[in-house]
Amino acid sequence: MFEIKTRFNQHTHHEVLVVGISEKGVDSETFLKIDEIFNGELSELRKKNRKLTKRGELTKIYTLGRLSTKVLYFVGLGEKQLSVEESNELRELFAIVGKQVKQDRVSRMAIVFESFCREKDFEATLAFILGESIALSSYKVFDYKEKSNEVEMFLSDITMYTSTDCKNDAEKGFVSGISTNYARDLVNRPGNLLTPSDLADEASILARNHEFEIDIIEKAEMEQIGMGALLAVAAGSDQAPKMIVLKYQGKEEWTNVLGLVGKGLTFDSGGISIKSRENLHQMKMDMGGAAAVLGAMNVIGTLKPTVNVLAVIPASENLLNGSALKPGDVIRSMNGKTIEVRNTDAEGRLILADGMTYAKQLGANYLIDVATLTGAVSVALGDCTTGAVTNNQELMSKVMKASLETGEWVWEFPTYKPYHEMLRTSDVADLNNAPGRLAGSITAGLFIGEFAEGTPWVHLDIAGTAWQTKENNLGPIGGTGVMVRTIANLAIKFEGI
Ligand code: BES
Ligand code: ZN
Ligand code: ZN
Repeated sequence: MFEIKTRFNQHTHHEVLVVGISEKGVDSETFLKIDEIFNGELSELRKKNRKLTKRGELTKIYTLGRLSTKVLYFVGLGEKQLSVEESNELRELFAIVGKQVKQDRVSRMAIVFESFCREKDFEATLAFILGESIALSSYKVFDYKEKSNEVEMFLSDITMYTSTDCKNDAEKGFVSGISTNYARDLVNRPGNLLTPSDLADEASILARNHEFEIDIIEKAEMEQIGMGALLAVAAGSDQAPKMIVLKYQGKEEWTNVLGLVGKGLTFDSGGISIKSRENLHQMKMDMGGAAAVLGAMNVIGTLKPTVNVLAVIPASENLLNGSALKPGDVIRSMNGKTIEVRNTDAEGRLILADGMTYAKQLGANYLIDVATLTGAVSVALGDCTTGAVTNNQELMSKVMKASLETGEWVWEFPTYKPYHEMLRTSDVADLNNAPGRLAGSITAGLFIGEFAEGTPWVHLDIAGTAWQTKENNLGPIGGTGVMVRTIANLAIKFEGI
């Protein structure tokens, strides 16, 4: 772990100075000053070399004693400087800087904000994005090879040249970034090294670090309180299920409680309705929802906002043995509704059903569930957008707003009556857990919504977005930690609807 230290308007010694450079925009004062020192050679170079200003291009220029900084990183902005509406682009650009400083093993860098964006009101936002991008872009997947995971030297000091003090904002952004990296670590961890009880241990560490109240419900208690849906899924595995509960009380009264329910399936084989063998190893990521909730709780625990948040994580494996749940079985969930299990691979909605009921029982007034729930969501939206289902437009629009600010895209699915009716197609039980391929993500979401029972609720299906198969500027192949930032952003200023 590295530390971020930021200083303002103070000429500290740094190895690298980062400056944004555009084709036509109003030139930044810094650029003009540097150009003067270089006798106009920089503006000359900009005219000749279009690459210098190309959006996302990073050009290193050695100052050879003409400046106290040894190296300049010019970051191409395209035509002109950016506005804060272009926060996604800024996140990308700062991530490119983050990757380069890491590669060059820079420990002290400085960055001039006015060269990227001239809107002074938004310096704080810029600082937040900088802190976040630096953390995200430096993430590396932990591996288990003989020679690996050496501690890498990394940025110990960032000087931000700004007109106002933005240290706090940069640090908040940084917290958001490292909490996402924490979720990525959990998602990337192999299933044998992250069982339901390991997940519970992770939650205990968080609780200790942030003084959360914690409760881990064990199997015997689940039997007593009737968590039949979670128990049914866990029946096929030797690993005991856990219902993990974390409570953060930032207000005096336990009111206006935001409940976060995360799917903690530490390995999903499909059960008796077994999955095909291709990419089965990737099903270690089926606890991405739990990871998002824990990551968000890390942000909340660090920043300590005046809000109440309850995290509930049903954790289990979905395997198959002689006691495993079978297609055709009828189970009874904690709230009394019966479910005919048509497909044991639709297990997420089962464990989440009890998670939702339990969160309500513990006082949640609003519910957000987050889950790697359906393959169908990636057919609909690909791997860049999270699918949403809701029973409350006001809560939904708060989630949308939070997601737009963080650049984690969310799209809401329709919930017309026929979709609801598809859930009621069992002859023997209240609900059918797998009504068929049509509208798979919607029916899956609405199934979970059956357990919200009138409480404002938003469901986030991250089966497409929790894992990326291509590297990008903000992170490598593997777990993305998606929704940590959106949920945290929503939660820290949450005041109900
Ligand atoms: N964990 C899977 C969904 C998933 C698929 C996550 C791909 C990540 C990547 C979930 O439990 C599942 O298997 N869903 C089934 C539901 C179906 C049986 C109704 C699916 O999507 O096929
Ligand atoms: Zn499944
Ligand atoms: Zn699953």
